[in-house]
Amino acid sequence: MAHYAVRESPPLRGEIPISTSKNAVLPIMCGALLTCEDVRIESPPDLTDVTTLCSLLEACGSRVKREKDALIITADALQNPQDEEDVRKMRASVLVLGPLLSRLGEARIPLPGGCAIGQRPIDQHLKGMSALGAKVTFDHGGVTLTGRLRGAVIYLDMPSVGATENLLMAATLAEGITRIENAAKEPEIVDLAAFLSSMGAKIAGAGTSTITIEGVHSLHGTSWMPIADRVEAGTMACACAITGGELLLRSARADHLRSLLFKLSEAGVHIKDTPGGLMIFGRAKQPFEIRTMVYPGFPTDLQAPMMAVACKTPGTSVFLETIFENRFMHAAELARLGAHIRVENRVAVVEGTPYLTGAPVRATDLRAGAALVIAGLCAEGETLVDDEGGHIDRGYCHIEQKLSAVGGDVRRIETVQ
Ligand code: UD1
Repeated sequence: MAHYAVRESPPLRGEIPISTSKNAVLPIMCGALLTCEDVRIESPPDLTDVTTLCSLLEACGSRVKREKDALIITADALQNPQDEEDVRKMRASVLVLGPLLSRLGEARIPLPGGCAIGQRPIDQHLKGMSALGAKVTFDHGGVTLTGRLRGAVIYLDMPSVGATENLLMAATLAEGITRIENAAKEPEIVDLAAFLSSMGAKIAGAGTSTITIEGVHSLHGTSWMPIADRVEAGTMACACAITGGELLLRSARADHLRSLLFKLSEAGVHIKDTPGGLMIFGRAKQPFEIRTMVYPGFPTDLQAPMMAVACKTPGTSVFLETIFENRFMHAAELARLGAHIRVENRVAVVEGTPYLTGAPVRATDLRAGAALVIAGLCAEGETLVDDEGGHIDRGYCHIEQKLSAVGGDVRRIETVQ
């Protein structure tokens, strides 16, 4: 739990190493449950979500060994978690469902409650598992799935990232062929599919809206280096667009960030794709319009950081959030810094203002917290971001160190729990 003290900073200059992707690593860790052999994940990001999932995997009977730059997961005594609290801590825990069901023939998890950014139901996960032959029963706040899985055609009502990942994992060990239609196409799904293929799974079409999986009898161990975190890279690109300057985002991939890069260049920021990573030059000068969409549309996870950019960019920027129903909570906090933002349902209109002033603000969720930290870089005086909820540590590795190393005035203040 921490506060972040941020002061107005000079243009950021230098290099930021981008960590491996949280949203790729979490499903890959769950995918390790599909084999009883060792799975080695290289350079896992130092995030509390990763630590939380390690405890859950241990509760599922696997051994998790932490080496200096790797995680080794061995699920040779797989079981359903006995303590439901482990599952409830984090929404991504729902991703153990597919592996547990396909290996044990039974899986039980508590139903995830609502969360700050919206309801986030799991009906598509369950609908898909039931198409694969699982019997789904609800009791005492949880859901139990039982049955041996058989390949089937699954149509997702919306291209849910988590449902696509869960079903993809479950289908690798199902008997016969599964086709997931209207599947999500995010880079993290392509990475998960490549990881599963390296374990012996037979998957075609990941990254398109139809994924075909031919079930195999068993999977074997592997060693995997996950992709770089496009959301962390995007957030740092936004930090540069706020302060100006020149940043190299080491290992960031332009092909995973097209929608953001187009928007930043519309705003007057220059971008260069180099073999070492992405280079970002200069400050945003023109307003822009953002509509969050599934990949390859503009990612909802970068909506808050881009709103921080819009606050000081001259002109009127408009945001339409189509993925989550309650993802503008940062708008009220940014307004405390003097930003001019009007929110009406799923639309936010931001009138850029030349002056923001530091104030105490609160991180209401993960991406909102990061957006407040980077907004503080261009607010006069001190912005104190209260992250008692520990949101930022869930998804950003040492954000204060990475920003300070390129000239950002950001200090982390530990608070007693
Ligand atoms: C993942 C990402 C998260 C990102 C989100 C959208 C991880 C760990 N998290 O979350 O950072 O913001 O994708 O890009 O990778 N929905 C249903 N029923 C379902 C599943 C989803 O109605 O069964 C709805 C959700 O409520 C939401 C939308 O679909 O409105 C998108 O959710 P989904 O793509 O599943 O996101 P997550 O996998 O939870």
